[in-house]
Amino acid sequence: MEKYVVTGGSKLYGEVDIYGAKNAAVAIIPATILAKGRCVLENIPGIIDVAGIFHIMRDLGAQVKMLDKHTVEIDTTNVNDTLVPYELARHMRASYYFLGSLLGRFGKASVSMPGGCCFGVRPIDQHIKGFEALGVDVSIDHGMINAHTQRLTGAHIYFDMVSVGATINVMLAAVKATGLTVLENAAKEPHIVDLANFLNAMGADIRGAGTDVIKIYGVDILHGVNYAIIPDQIEAGTYMAAVAATGGDVLVKNVIPKHLESITAKLALAGAEITEYDDSIRVRREGPLKRVNVKTMPHPGFPTDMQPQMAAVLTGAQGTSIITEGVWDNRFRYVDELNRLGASIQVDGKVAVIEGGTPLKGAPVKATDLRAGAALVIAALTAEGVTEIEEIHHIERGYEDFVEKLQALGASIEKRVLPDGLSLPKAL
Ligand code: EPU
Repeated sequence: MEKYVVTGGSKLYGEVDIYGAKNAAVAIIPATILAKGRCVLENIPGIIDVAGIFHIMRDLGAQVKMLDKHTVEIDTTNVNDTLVPYELARHMRASYYFLGSLLGRFGKASVSMPGGCCFGVRPIDQHIKGFEALGVDVSIDHGMINAHTQRLTGAHIYFDMVSVGATINVMLAAVKATGLTVLENAAKEPHIVDLANFLNAMGADIRGAGTDVIKIYGVDILHGVNYAIIPDQIEAGTYMAAVAATGGDVLVKNVIPKHLESITAKLALAGAEITEYDDSIRVRREGPLKRVNVKTMPHPGFPTDMQPQMAAVLTGAQGTSIITEGVWDNRFRYVDELNRLGASIQVDGKVAVIEGGTPLKGAPVKATDLRAGAALVIAALTAEGVTEIEEIHHIERGYEDFVEKLQALGASIEKRVLPDGLSLPKAL
């Protein structure tokens, strides 16, 4: 068993480097299958979700070789399998991107229903609708999504809601379809644009990524490329939120400030002083935190993946803040854990009401999902005394060197590894 042990009360000072974007990497790595050849990807984050995607790649027949800590060489020449079984797919949402990439290369794919963070129902009807429009037969049998087609044919597809996953998956298949595919009501997240740039570098013809209409002119052949993945907007936002919560002065390096605008705006309203440079952002907070209302929305709105971290910040603000979750049905499961630390948050459906300003006190808590875990770490950094955070495997799905980076900023946090069956005393 592993846990983080955090002693709150230190302000954060110094510099932190942001690694490559998880949600871009987990789409771009499967996309390498579309070319029969060799790709070199830089800025790959060393996180559990990426390790899981590499595992699937190897299982399908790809050669995956790390050239250094964040650079990987992938050779997809010998990929010949089109089956992604349950054991490999169940831990990760992004495993479903193998549907799009295997369909694009082979016209068939069988992928187990995906796993990932639990935010209530996570349907995939828009992915299926998109594939069917491209001429794919899709069926779900015994937990497997089976898809096959004689020929991918371009189509006009209107998504019923904005979906990152459906936009990416259908784009992956459509780059190899005959003729023009138009995706309307497409997602606009930075990782959609990054994937489109990667595919275009491979020889695809995708226009409009980053707007809600994406046009894809199908091509017959894609080739291997060297490509560097964008920095992780949410990792950056998490450190920015941590500084806003604890106070201090930190330069967050290797970021694209434009991707962080909605986060910057809310943290500034909450009392942080933020200065943007070309590829870094400085966050300072000396004065008190102020109450703020936040509603999460698809990009360029405030990202749902920063919602729990923002809640942790606002527990320290005087007055009442209201957070409305506009993307997922149930993304407030972590609130009970924050309340265990002394926060006062009430949830009614998709709305959380935070009565801020009561000092938090350390307690044993557990991460209920990836960003919830990050929020607990932020709250623990501000709490009086010691907080032990369990179920940290959720956090390590998406944050590389989290403990080391926070320690370098002056936080008192360590990871303890205990033999199975043993546990730490609840109060240290
Ligand atoms: N939806 C449907 N039908 C579909 C697809 C989505 O109804 O076929 C709904 C979902 O239920 C949800 C909304 O549409 O209410 C948006 O879901 P989306 O498809 O955009 O989410 P996703 O692709 O499954 C990705 C990220 C999530 C992030 C969301 C929203 C990856 C691997 N995951 O999920 O990231 O919260 O977009 O931005 O890219 C995280 O990194 O912590 C994380 C959960």
